[in-house]
Amino acid sequence: MTQDKILCDIGFIGLGVMGKNLVLNLADNGFNIAAFDLCDEKIKGVIEQDKTENTTEIPRVYGCSSYTELLSQLKTPHLIILSVPAGAPVDQVCENLIGAGIQPDDIVIDTGNSLWVDTVAREKKYKTNFLLFSSAVSGGEVGARFGPSLMPSGSPYAWARIKPIWEAIAAKVDPNTGKPLERTKPGEIITTGEPCAAYIGPAGSGHYVKMVHNGIEYADMQIICEAYHILNAGLGFSADEIADIFEQWNNGLLDSYLMDITVEVLRHKSVDTGTSLVYLILDKAGQKGTGLWTAVSSLELGCPTPTITQAVYARSISSFKELRTQASTLLTGPQPVALTNQEKQVQIEQLHDAIYCAKMCAYAQGFQLMKLAAKEHGWTLDFASIAKIWRAGCIIRATFLQSIAHAYDRNSDLENLLLDSFFAEELSERQLNWRKAVCNATMLGIPHGALSSALSYYDSMRSEVLPANLLQGQRDFFGAHTFERVDKADGKKYHVQWSSTERETIVIE
Ligand code: 6PG
Repeated sequence: MTQDKILCDIGFIGLGVMGKNLVLNLADNGFNIAAFDLCDEKIKGVIEQDKTENTTEIPRVYGCSSYTELLSQLKTPHLIILSVPAGAPVDQVCENLIGAGIQPDDIVIDTGNSLWVDTVAREKKYKTNFLLFSSAVSGGEVGARFGPSLMPSGSPYAWARIKPIWEAIAAKVDPNTGKPLERTKPGEIITTGEPCAAYIGPAGSGHYVKMVHNGIEYADMQIICEAYHILNAGLGFSADEIADIFEQWNNGLLDSYLMDITVEVLRHKSVDTGTSLVYLILDKAGQKGTGLWTAVSSLELGCPTPTITQAVYARSISSFKELRTQASTLLTGPQPVALTNQEKQVQIEQLHDAIYCAKMCAYAQGFQLMKLAAKEHGWTLDFASIAKIWRAGCIIRATFLQSIAHAYDRNSDLENLLLDSFFAEELSERQLNWRKAVCNATMLGIPHGALSSALSYYDSMRSEVLPANLLQGQRDFFGAHTFERVDKADGKKYHVQWSSTERETIVIE
């Protein structure tokens, strides 16, 4: 083998499900890879898979048994991609690369779900050793293999080198329809369409945007799960019948990847029992933390994301299975109501609109959060571009993202999606059905925190007056926290001696 053949374009560390598929995607797009993992079996696995999928004579993936060997197999300056779990493993790999002799002009790309502040700290920490660049990846294993959505951020110098690679491996979209250009077979590549990879901004901003993507993902999933629960436990439809309803919805306004896979999950039968597998899956939701981080960030920034946060709570409450089982024997709900088929059909239509409206609010919350975070951290985020790179490849991909991109194309400075004419009209037209669906779920005794928190968000956002006037009075009563007055344009703070009959309000500043 000649020296030229040995030197690879990219070093890849971490060959789990995402890593292995990203390696094969890179290989399909003409990049040869030096691959390393702490587990030898994973290295063998990716080489074997590459052998079966590679249509050329020349191997595209070279296995390395150490960090030093990995660096020696690469063209310089080195370009290394990490796909390792967020947190300590990222630092561990960075330290090992330093030990193996990585150079200051080498680039290391972290593609995991790192907490964005960790990315900011790492860029600073390692800047004398190498250039840390972050690029969040969404799309699960299929996305990684055939085209993910990529959210790169960090040094523009590093981005110039990474851009052609990222644009090659990313999912592609037909810019006119906003629909993904499907790539499903090994060896297949797509060179047309808009790539779902766009530079987000300075270090950490890409991981922040991915974190919010996941927050929206939590909300989107929870909204669909509540609809399933209402249809199943509330209205008595089977998993197969609900799959039929969702499939129909997936051909219209609610078209999305998450709706699509939900249909497949609902139709799946257990090999052991022949019944719908969904009935056999334990109702305790897991979570790796990105939804929680989104909720925490929204609370810290004072930006309401009740539907996203509610989706995190829904997972938490699901984990209290034993407690819920105990409470279910003690606490009563409404008496079951016998509904006619026609009444059920009406409720199904109302539920459809409720999902659509709640989804619009969840996205509005996520995008407003990114806007406030950008202001706080001095990032210039291009929201139309973010919506565009989420149209394909990622978990929340949906044609709906095209409407969000259009809203930000109309006004790049839009404060909140609810103020865009398209979203305002869609919500206004369907809000009555949304309310009815929330009432129906309440009367059926089925929890629907995401659907109703979104409605409450909508009602709060459209209320010129909220009861915070009374709240300010309460705060002033017990803590002299002061309040402003609507009848005075002086912007001054007032305090009342609540127990005194002598004085009413006093200006304290
Ligand atoms: C993606 C997913 C991905 C992963 C989540 C799941 O965009 O590809 O969001 O990041 O599946 O980490 O998160 P939970 O385990 O918290 O549901």
